[in-house]
Amino acid sequence: MSRDWRLSDMANGMERSRILSIAASVREMISQGKEVAPFTVGDFSPSQFDVPTILTDGIIESIEAGETNYPPAAGLPELRASLSSWMKHRYDLDVGPNGIIVGSGARPVLYAAFRLLLEPGDGLAHGVPAWNNHYYVHLNDAIDIPLAGTRESRFLPTASQIKERINEIRVLILNSPLNPTGTCFRFDELQSICEVVLDENKRRFSENIKPVILVYDQVYSTMTAPDVEHIHPVQACPEIYPYTITLDAISKSLTGTGLRLGWMALPPELSPPVVALIGHMGAWPARPIQKAAANLYAKHESLELYFEDLDERIAKRMSILQNRLSALEKYGVHFVKPEGGIYLSTQFDLFEILAVKTNEEIRKWLLDTAGVAIVPFQAFGLEEESGWFRISIGAVSTADIDAAMDRLEGALKSAYDYAHSA
Ligand SMILES: Cc1ncc(COP(=O)(O)O)c(C=O)c1O
Repeated sequence: MSRDWRLSDMANGMERSRILSIAASVREMISQGKEVAPFTVGDFSPSQFDVPTILTDGIIESIEAGETNYPPAAGLPELRASLSSWMKHRYDLDVGPNGIIVGSGARPVLYAAFRLLLEPGDGLAHGVPAWNNHYYVHLNDAIDIPLAGTRESRFLPTASQIKERINEIRVLILNSPLNPTGTCFRFDELQSICEVVLDENKRRFSENIKPVILVYDQVYSTMTAPDVEHIHPVQACPEIYPYTITLDAISKSLTGTGLRLGWMALPPELSPPVVALIGHMGAWPARPIQKAAANLYAKHESLELYFEDLDERIAKRMSILQNRLSALEKYGVHFVKPEGGIYLSTQFDLFEILAVKTNEEIRKWLLDTAGVAIVPFQAFGLEEESGWFRISIGAVSTADIDAAMDRLEGALKSAYDYAHSA
């Protein structure tokens, strides 16, 4: 990116989201009438996935009732109360209403969490592949501590990797279900990680050094495959509570990416500076969505029913994808069984068949030849040319998936036959 002398070093060094750049080019192709399945963005097409009507009705009612003035910076008291009761009900996480701070999506509270904890030069550890952490390292002038996942670890960072770097870490951010891989931490994996953090914090306490804080991003927590349970760190290890900040949002769980409501749950004594920061940023959600969500999150049963139905619709798409991709193994296509979220990690090991060297060449070939638009793991910080990609199902119907897989199968067969006839 070219530098502009009028801007700060931070602004000059800021990278544009690679996912959004790919998605923009795909939108352009679709608008030109090309047949492309948009497996790229972590967004939902409202024609495929709808937000609960109780939420949309509540928004309209609130506007009609004149709820158009400033909300309090931390969020409406009734919303903080219903979100805290939901977090306790669903995840055994009890921060009380004062430990909940809302923002306009998960991003502002994520940004606020980093600002709350990091000094320039502090270590920010995160798995790779993962969503957007490398941008936040830059924004906070932090030291990047990437922990590279492998297919064997389901692309999740492990306790032993964390232990190796623990003395450099101030903030450890974990995401489960993980964007981009659709994999989830299991109870024992999370427990071992928490034990590493707690051991280190015991040492730091005695040496008067700031502790490691675990930021747990669980925006896809309600979306799990039928045989998988989402685990919160306090469920695996209750002693981690004072060192944990949890991030959540309706963006994914209620498929309301454009409604902009997220929240942070943290020990309530840490809340005041976050409330001030969200206030200074003006990053609070609009009052009508706060009113409507306060009502919805008090109705645990309605929410559970909505999540069940949503999980079924996701599972249907994942099942078709897995069946269709399984049949492509002979061409070098492999995937990791999806456990949660809306993503499937797939390896298109087409380097030989296509005689190419990079993921980017494979991505372009899949897009141009098969109309399959996907995102390489490089967009999530995993730089190696390994053929791994994220497939997102948020904007496609089951028929779209079948049609895309027909095109893909045909294109792979032709490329394979050509490579083997040469
Ligand atoms: C893991 C993860 N965290 C946070 C976010 C941001 O969510 P929001 O749209 O609520 O800001 C995303 C969005 O894709 C995500 O994948």
